[in-house]
Amino acid sequence: MSKLSALLSIVGIAISGLGAMPDAEAASSLAEAYKQHFLIGAAITPGQVLVPATRKLIAREFNIAVAENAMKPESLNREGPGQYNFENADRIVDFARSRHIKMRGHTLVWHQQAATWMFAGDGPEGYPSKEVLTERLRTYIHDIVTHFKGRVFAWDVVNEAFAPDENVPQENGWRQTVWYRVLGPEYIELAFKFAHEADPDALLFYNDYNTESPRKHAMILALIKQLQAKNIPIHGIGHQSHYTIAQPRDFSLLEQHIEEIGNLGLTNHITELDISLNRNLMRAEIDEASPALLQEQARRYENFFAMALRQKNYVSAVVMWGLNDEVSWLRSWPIARFDAPLLFNEANKRKPAYRAVIKAAAQN
Ligand code: GLA
Repeated sequence: MSKLSALLSIVGIAISGLGAMPDAEAASSLAEAYKQHFLIGAAITPGQVLVPATRKLIAREFNIAVAENAMKPESLNREGPGQYNFENADRIVDFARSRHIKMRGHTLVWHQQAATWMFAGDGPEGYPSKEVLTERLRTYIHDIVTHFKGRVFAWDVVNEAFAPDENVPQENGWRQTVWYRVLGPEYIELAFKFAHEADPDALLFYNDYNTESPRKHAMILALIKQLQAKNIPIHGIGHQSHYTIAQPRDFSLLEQHIEEIGNLGLTNHITELDISLNRNLMRAEIDEASPALLQEQARRYENFFAMALRQKNYVSAVVMWGLNDEVSWLRSWPIARFDAPLLFNEANKRKPAYRAVIKAAAQN
């Protein structure tokens, strides 16, 4: 026990109540350990930038952040045309700027957490006409990207457009979203074009999960080539990377895909990394984080970061999906269950996985 913790325990203050105290075993931080390699950060919430312990943790550890939900259309533009609510997102962005943390924007176009009024109209099936939906897309992207111009350096322009391996409504791998059904596959290029018009300096990303899937990767490569052929800027691919301690077996396919994307002149961001303790991402298999599981998870994190470091010419950021285990979406999706997929535990303490990630930086 340090002198400070001894002193505090005499006066009855538990050290764990001071979530922001650096752990004794590691003096450095993630941002410090990775500063020669790539940006490192997490998805954060408006509440976390108000609470002193989490403010300090974010500022100490990270140099990049993304809003977990606050920049999605349902958060920014739920009520209707022109009715924006920037309060929560601005709070995150202002905090990040004050701590020199770069912000990713997530996400302009997605089929979930959308501003659903955009999809209502008097065209076929109750959707808007092509002209009306194009205009809504243009207005939304212009207004949002302009609002954050100079404060958000990279945008996930389109999220999860492809679903070639899934049993969901799709056409040749194209997810049947309202965007696709009304505008056709061109909706992606329209979205990139509108984002570039609003902020020519922003880096523009296509973001998806299971990017290690060869079929999804083929669709991503085709998209990149198509946009490049039309001179529509696309600067990077976001790999969500929601993994488990068992799936995928290794990261070799992802690595190969990152390299191929890099060879086309784009960068790669790992955008939503977490490594579930449930081997099957869809099941509830465990009810606690045993030391053995935490070690297994640490080895997976180390392998993942070793891969990202090998590809550091092509990987420019790694972002974890959540600040600590307590707030991870995997505790409520796809069912309520136990999980602990991140680098910090419920008390914001560094886990074995954290130390493995620091070790990977030191060794590579
Ligand atoms: C997807 C989205 C994220 C988030 C996660 C789960 O990966 O891109 O914004 O909603 O699902 O929370």
